[in-house]
Amino acid sequence: MDAHAVARPPSPMLALPVASWTDPLAPALQAEAQEALESGSVLVFPRLAFALDAAEWQLLAAAESDGSRKNVSYDPATGVLKGTALPPDRRPALAAVMRRFADSAQALLLAVAPGYAPHLERARTSFRPTEIAGRAMPWRKDDTRLHVDAFPSRPTRGRRILRVFVNVDPDGTPRRWAVGEPFEEFARAFLSRVPRPLPGSAAVLHWLGLTKGRRSRYDHIMLHLHDAAKRDAAYQGDTARQHRLDFPPGTAWMVFTDQVPHAAHAGRNALEQTFHLDPAGMAHPERSPLRVLERLTGRALT
Ligand SMILES: [Fe+2]
Repeated sequence: MDAHAVARPPSPMLALPVASWTDPLAPALQAEAQEALESGSVLVFPRLAFALDAAEWQLLAAAESDGSRKNVSYDPATGVLKGTALPPDRRPALAAVMRRFADSAQALLLAVAPGYAPHLERARTSFRPTEIAGRAMPWRKDDTRLHVDAFPSRPTRGRRILRVFVNVDPDGTPRRWAVGEPFEEFARAFLSRVPRPLPGSAAVLHWLGLTKGRRSRYDHIMLHLHDAAKRDAAYQGDTARQHRLDFPPGTAWMVFTDQVPHAAHAGRNALEQTFHLDPAGMAHPERSPLRVLERLTGRALT
């Protein structure tokens, strides 16, 4: 497809019959999968369980978040584990499980999109033990509300946020999501509610250590799109525009969470790996939120 052709409206998901985290995909399937991913589909792998032995199960069951945050998090670059109530002597074993998932998620992503390799940064790994349904959260942190991902303390300056998940719940509980409209429609609906950034605010936030790196105009807009959508009760209630997706245990899925409006309504015990991708690595960089927002606003945003 040439770069200026109109993308076909994305279907919300593409199921792939992949049963290995590491095997390369057949070329035709690989191309179809990358095309769907960049179009804003969720790639679903219904036969891709993440195998855990009995000792690993016990670790995850005991790893419960320490209550300081929603999730247990692991940094594969430094080996630092945060948010778990596990005693120190058991933490290296938990870190090893999370590292094994981080490596598996990276292998799967590079099987789908081998061209991403030189443009990819592997960020945090998380374990999400807590049941989502019924959990009280302030509105801005309430991920049962449809949103695109944007993180207040971690500006991406236009780099993509791509996440790989797997449901490892031992009791058969599906993870229940809803996904919304294509990114451009989403952005058009909320862009008028994005205020102008206060002059100098990005520098001050950086200087105070509240952001890792300076917030670009792009990050400012993405944070306000995230907030505007979560705050809009009419938008949240308009379920006719949403597609429900269920991910049973033994299912993995992969999605650009900065592009696809998504909400997690129920489920527990998921592993997740975050990647950042320079849009230059995409087959279709013009579909990245950065390029879409630059087109809609008529200005450079980074
Ligand atoms: Fe999210």
